[in-house]
Amino acid sequence: MTYRELCARLHEAGVPDPERDAAILMEEALGLSSAGLMARRNEYFDDPRLNEWARRRASREPLQYILGRWSFMGLDFSVCPDCLIPRADTELLCEEALRSLPRGGVFADLCTGSGCIALSILKLRGDCRALAVDLSPEALAVAKKNAKELGVADRVTFLLHDVTEPLPGDESFDLIVSNPPYVPTEDTKALEPELYHEPMLALDGGGDGMSVIRPMLTHVPTRLRPGGKLLIEFGYQSGGLVADLAHEATIAGRLARYEIRKDLSGNDRLLVAEA
Ligand SMILES: C[S@@+](CC[C@H](N)C(=O)[O-])C[C@H]1O[C@@H](n2cnc3c(N)ncnc32)[C@H](O)[C@@H]1O
Repeated sequence: MTYRELCARLHEAGVPDPERDAAILMEEALGLSSAGLMARRNEYFDDPRLNEWARRRASREPLQYILGRWSFMGLDFSVCPDCLIPRADTELLCEEALRSLPRGGVFADLCTGSGCIALSILKLRGDCRALAVDLSPEALAVAKKNAKELGVADRVTFLLHDVTEPLPGDESFDLIVSNPPYVPTEDTKALEPELYHEPMLALDGGGDGMSVIRPMLTHVPTRLRPGGKLLIEFGYQSGGLVADLAHEATIAGRLARYEIRKDLSGNDRLLVAEA
């Protein structure tokens, strides 16, 4: 097939950005640079891997799972249907985490998935250590693979644990970060086809999207060192609920202060709190 034919096939299948995806699939499958593809865009390729990838993308399998890799914070992560695909929005949380961590800091990443948050922070901050927690053994296996590939495995401990329950042990942290599941259950019934390839455990945040965030906000602050930071990403519709819970936590003395930050689209997205 030619580049144009692949664009047309993906367009017909309803793929949101067919030109971008067609270019990425052709470059990766055929080992071409962007300039190389541009020069050969009218050429017909009969490549078994490209044909298979075209079929999969036209059936709305996410591009990232087809490639098996995706970039986050400028780093390359292995991804597969056992873990959520890292989202560019979550880089806001990482950037705030990098600003907040003291030298030699110890942090926890709750709901680590592919490990993209914890491992990119560790890669960019060679002085820090992390605890990375998830309820899915399959997701933890992906995170462990990524830790090895990024060369940070000696500074991260992985824990299979339900974060709606208090963390075991008594270690306290300079920073706790989390990108938990936060899509309200009702909204999971009408998602883009690509999202049904991702683990529902990574998306479904219960009736109001807060089923993991609510218990976390009760017990997690007690594990922060004085002045320690808590960063939680949440759904665009949950700013009010998260602010109410954070306010309760400040009145109860579990948090000293908090603010709600917006993402690049102007939606409430990130709780930044301090113990
Ligand atoms: C939204 S994904 C985030 C993954 C990754 N941190 C990221 O930003 O791409 C949420 C993750 O939380 C995990 N998870 C869901 N419920 C959990 C729970 N109760 N305890 C621990 N992990 C949970 C899922 O397995 C999934 O890996």
